[in-house]
Amino acid sequence: MDEMVHIFDHPLIQHKLAILRDENTGVKEFREIVSEIATLMCYEATRDLPTREVEIKTPVATGTFKTLAGKKLAIVPILRAGLGMVDGILTLIPSAKVGHIGLYRDPQTLEPVEYYCKMPSDIAERDVIVLDPMLATGGSASAAIQFIKNYEVKHIKLMNIIAAPEGVERVRKDHPDVAIYCAALDEKLNDHGYIVPGLGDAGDRIFGTK
Ligand code: URA
Repeated sequence: MDEMVHIFDHPLIQHKLAILRDENTGVKEFREIVSEIATLMCYEATRDLPTREVEIKTPVATGTFKTLAGKKLAIVPILRAGLGMVDGILTLIPSAKVGHIGLYRDPQTLEPVEYYCKMPSDIAERDVIVLDPMLATGGSASAAIQFIKNYEVKHIKLMNIIAAPEGVERVRKDHPDVAIYCAALDEKLNDHGYIVPGLGDAGDRIFGTK
């Protein structure tokens, strides 16, 4: 994998991911852990945020200290499973705006079609993190990134909890400028499009709809 693909091997993330993978993990715990992993991944994926020096008077002395340079961020969950990662990100970046994008696959053309899209009005001025727990074929992620690029967004990152090699390859090919952040790169996709070993259907497990 190249330097645009970041796989987080932090023990806390790996431990929590193992609980998600377990088929016996119930909906409440699954939802909470998706959110916790999103928070931990957000901490790592925002390492490159620019800072600026500001003068601050502590109760003891005046000093120059680093603060965030005020770069504006937006997160865009891909409906529906991406919603499970939103709160975890907002825990660390409460001022981020949230866009939403929903896609379905046209049964004739097999192309992803946008059925819902609502972006912050100033999205072009923001760096965007696209959220989807599972990067399977990469079709939806690639289409979502393209829709966001159509709004003149310049910097986009993709955050997934589990990725399949097929999905990583597709996004790297279609969008070489987009960095991918994931907690695990699994083995493959099966004939039904599920990631192996994966964790099953992330949307169903987050929302309890199985
Ligand atoms: N989407 C899921 O929720 N799970 C997979 O394994 C693949 C796509």
